[in-house]
Amino acid sequence: MRLILYLGKGGVGKTTTAAATAVRAAELGYRTLVVSTDVAHSLADALDQPLEPMPIQLTERLWGQEINVLDEVRQHWGQLRTYLATLLRRRGMDEVAAEELAIIPGMEEVVSLLHIRRQARDGNFDVVVVDAAPTGETVRLLTMPETFQWYAARVMDWEPNTLKVARPLVKALVPAADMFETLERLTKGVEALRETLLDADVSSYRLVVNPERMVIKEAQRAATYLALFGYPIDGVVLNRVLPPDAAEGAFMQELARIQQTYRQQVYDLFAPLPIWESPHYARDLRGLEDLSLIGNALFKDVDPVKVQFRGTTQEIIREGDEYVMRLPLPHVEIGKVTMTKRGDELFIEIGNFRRDMILPTVLAERPARRAVFRKGVLEIWFGHPEPVSLPQETPM
Ligand SMILES: Nc1ncnc2c1ncn2[C@@H]1O[C@H](COP(=O)(O)OP(=O)(O)OP(=O)(O)O)[C@@H](O)[C@H]1O
Ligand SMILES: [Mg+2]
Repeated sequence: MRLILYLGKGGVGKTTTAAATAVRAAELGYRTLVVSTDVAHSLADALDQPLEPMPIQLTERLWGQEINVLDEVRQHWGQLRTYLATLLRRRGMDEVAAEELAIIPGMEEVVSLLHIRRQARDGNFDVVVVDAAPTGETVRLLTMPETFQWYAARVMDWEPNTLKVARPLVKALVPAADMFETLERLTKGVEALRETLLDADVSSYRLVVNPERMVIKEAQRAATYLALFGYPIDGVVLNRVLPPDAAEGAFMQELARIQQTYRQQVYDLFAPLPIWESPHYARDLRGLEDLSLIGNALFKDVDPVKVQFRGTTQEIIREGDEYVMRLPLPHVEIGKVTMTKRGDELFIEIGNFRRDMILPTVLAERPARRAVFRKGVLEIWFGHPEPVSLPQETPM
């Protein structure tokens, strides 16, 4: 089974791309499911077909599904949340605050991913295309099942004390034994899900961008974090590129010129990942025919179900007191490396190649000491964190 997950800033074209990929995959003969967790039903809109919380067959090999995350959470998490909230309340916490704390950040997405994974198995699909991959919080939650276990452990910890006081009350709500079972099942589920999502043979993350500054920046941030935590990225979709013949008139020409700059930036920034381009269509895109057109234009003779890139896009390792970031840049010619660091941004120039990087927090607080470009790999060394300069205390 293959899992293809699209991610990117709001409105860049994730749903359209996911649906187009799924249509293309089905055309190529794969048993395909495209699934969305968007409450706005935009996948149903793109496919121009009503969808339901369970997969609906759309063509011979294509199924679509729109998961209702809230329902899922209520069904599988409602009890646990009530339970957590009850425990927190018994510890003197205000009711609303207790309810709020009982919500584990990113849990909703984890629950829907667990559901998707189950579905993919049960439905015997060759490929599942996920419209909108998990966001930062979920990535973190998945990367550190400890976060989740920490939460679970807390509940267990409270149990002996709290139960003395709260048992009758809690029991009245939910039998505690069930809760431990639920927690254990969930912890195991999350662990297995994490393995699936980290397995480069199964999962592929694809970034969707437009030739626009902020969109690209956000995608870089996502790429950095995915790479940092070892989630396999295998390509970038550059959506809404103005076709050359569209650039008539001063306004359009200027727009096309700006796009060209950002288009080049996308190639520079995301190398060595493959970039698939999709033109900006001058009409409302809807239905399977349109999606097939987009899917074809996007992937041409590439099979979008296959893994399109293997290997690391960046790697961060610790060397004694320092951190080294390694970036494979196979298409860059050898040249003098210059770099400038500003907060969590790092500008690098090698000859006429430029990259404006977003650094993860662990590197952002460290000075970039030196950079070496060798055998197609750029190595950047980060030293000790800069000491925080506190304002001088003035004697009273
Ligand atoms: N290449 C394109 N040319 C023209 N219109 C496009 C293109 N790609 C997407 N659109 C249109 O832009 C709108 C937003 O696209 P889409 O819903 O796929 O984005 P999204 O990233 O899923 O958004 P959200 O973050 O809200 O889920 C839709 O109306 C879609 O039809
Ligand atoms: Mg969408």
